[in-house]
Amino acid sequence: MTTAIGAPLERVDGRQKVTGSARYSTEIPATGMAHACLVGARIASGRVRSVDASDAREEPGVLAVLTHENLPRIATQPPLVPSLFGGPAPGETFFPMQDDIVHYGGQPIALVVADTHERAQHAASLLRVGYEASEPLTTIEQGRDQAYEAEKIFGGFLPGRSARGDIEEGIEKADIVVEATFDYAANSHNPLEASGTTAIWDGDELLLYDGTQGVNATQLTVAALLGIPLSKIRVLSQFVGGSFGSKAMIWHHPALAALAAREVGRPVKLALTREQMFTACGHREEQEQHITLGATNDGRLTALRHHKLSPTSHFDDWAEPSLNSAAQMYACPNYEGVYRLIRANTMTPTFMRGPGDSTGMFALECAMDELAEKTGLDPIELRLRNFADADPVSGNPWSSNGLKECYQRGAASFGWHDRDPAPGSRREGNWLIGTGMAAAGYPAPPPGTPQRARARIYADGSVVVQGATTEFGTGVATVMAQVAADVLGVPVERCRFEKGDTDFPGIASAVGSAGAGMISAAVHAAATALREQLIGEAVADSGSPLHGADPAGVVVRNGTMSAGTSSEQYTDLLRRNLRPDAEASGTWNPPGMDTPYAMLTFGAQFAEVAVDPELGLVRVRRMTGAFAPGRVLNARTVRSQLMGGMLWSLGQALLEFNRMDPATGRWVCNSLGEYLVPVNADAPDVTVELVDVEDRIVNPLGVKGVGEIGQVGANAAIANAIHHATGRRIRKMPIMIEDII
Ligand code: MOS
Repeated sequence: MTTAIGAPLERVDGRQKVTGSARYSTEIPATGMAHACLVGARIASGRVRSVDASDAREEPGVLAVLTHENLPRIATQPPLVPSLFGGPAPGETFFPMQDDIVHYGGQPIALVVADTHERAQHAASLLRVGYEASEPLTTIEQGRDQAYEAEKIFGGFLPGRSARGDIEEGIEKADIVVEATFDYAANSHNPLEASGTTAIWDGDELLLYDGTQGVNATQLTVAALLGIPLSKIRVLSQFVGGSFGSKAMIWHHPALAALAAREVGRPVKLALTREQMFTACGHREEQEQHITLGATNDGRLTALRHHKLSPTSHFDDWAEPSLNSAAQMYACPNYEGVYRLIRANTMTPTFMRGPGDSTGMFALECAMDELAEKTGLDPIELRLRNFADADPVSGNPWSSNGLKECYQRGAASFGWHDRDPAPGSRREGNWLIGTGMAAAGYPAPPPGTPQRARARIYADGSVVVQGATTEFGTGVATVMAQVAADVLGVPVERCRFEKGDTDFPGIASAVGSAGAGMISAAVHAAATALREQLIGEAVADSGSPLHGADPAGVVVRNGTMSAGTSSEQYTDLLRRNLRPDAEASGTWNPPGMDTPYAMLTFGAQFAEVAVDPELGLVRVRRMTGAFAPGRVLNARTVRSQLMGGMLWSLGQALLEFNRMDPATGRWVCNSLGEYLVPVNADAPDVTVELVDVEDRIVNPLGVKGVGEIGQVGANAAIANAIHHATGRRIRKMPIMIEDII
């Protein structure tokens, strides 16, 4: 009876988005609005000796200059640590301008507030900051000797070391060993909308408009930092112009905007500049991964050792979880995974699309390609020989799988099997042509907090469903209307999903590809509760044609409840009983940590490249990705997400690059002119194949998520294709001109 779910409906907010009428959090008008401008440290290590703001304060329109000398102290001692599970979610433990220490380049050291943005910027340029600088340490090369094994990473959520079997014995038993080191450049966050917040106080009540992946996360974090009750802070977020993890954790600017607004007694807007996006909302850390694979002559893995080394901040042990799905992909009995960290003058790294798995699977899947070559096996055959029937980490059965079908479907669609495996075997003029593949895995919705929504039907038959989630480009308003429509049995055009308001029932931040699964579960719960309530009322109502019917036998379609030959419309039931509307709430409790299933989304990626070895050019000609993401809620938005992930992975493979200048400790790239992302001219034909798997475990609708899996593995497929084209193993991301020539 599903009609709306899965349909390739266009985004209900598509027109607003493409015409620019969708309002972002720093485009909200308010009477008396003041504008705050953040000033970042020019050094990466040391102290702020003095801030002379005398000239700035004399400029017309300047309302305040806040520094470590006069910014109010935050309320939390000990400091908040990064977390995303039902509590405050600061991006890093450190909060700026509480003392004079500079931990990293760009760290906020002043906030200038004026009546216009231009005046604030001008006054900020007049600040004379004296520093006491010390040598920064920002790169792996500089800090290698000081690396330590992490006890926990990722906000304390994951162990720094994990093992199964006996790794030494596994390597000993191997006929073939592949050992390789893979480098991954730091990636910087660059969604179209730079982060920003508008803060408006009314007495002791705070209203924030924030570009965030979770209004509740903003509320929890700012309330804790300012020491105000949660009941006194409301967060609104109607549109977010992309995020990809940059707005998952709550960085400093929402609390700073609120503090500044309280200070000047006016609404304050604080918008980060593009340059500040490189230093104010985390990044994917530079990383080095060392992999040892042991295998028998017939390609069965006996050992997988996977070590990662990366810089983190002075205050948090953060590494993206690169050893997650890489530890689960293959049935390898002996495993060792270790995270090593270096304390560096950087901010705490953070989530970035495909967090962990897009880097970890890059290393593993390139190493698997090397193993395929050494064993003389086709890369798909090698992977099939190591297929994991159950999760090798927990031993639990998969909630659903589909990986073999992804290999099969992807290979058929791409034309994989026509391939001559010999490297350098295909040439077209100056171009060497190669193909490569890789497997993909990404955790399906992780265990989390209860998810809630509320559904209301009006007496005219129109429906509103509300939940405190945000729209950051995924199409959630469209998709959740589809879910509500099918559960309630009303046409989708009559359903509206409202989001982006902490006054709505709570939903956790949409992160880790869990958004569609958990929000649809909440909407499903609320709409089911409303449907059952209405059916219950009808069968109990002596005026209803359904009076006395068995509620379990009542079906709903097109706004009508029916049982056998009797039926009644929702609207008739409500009007007859003089009811303007009916409303119900629903809660979904996700599977707990002790769930006896392993939940991973699988896929297979294929790429064809053309390489000009003299000019060092790489052109990706074709990409095919086959994925098994569970239930598809909207075929159009799902395809867009997967395609977007694959193209981002192309960017990681060939373009996205940032690094710290070891002398200054500052990013080398700090604008979109230098930090390159793929554009249409870089984008090849992309084919997305969807493999149907039914999953009854992850959530009521069986949604495993598509936000990240598209990005996992495509970078490895491209690197493997470059090897096939040229015969060269280039074990780094991105692969640049100088690596090819
Ligand atoms: Mo996603 S990178 O977990 O916001």
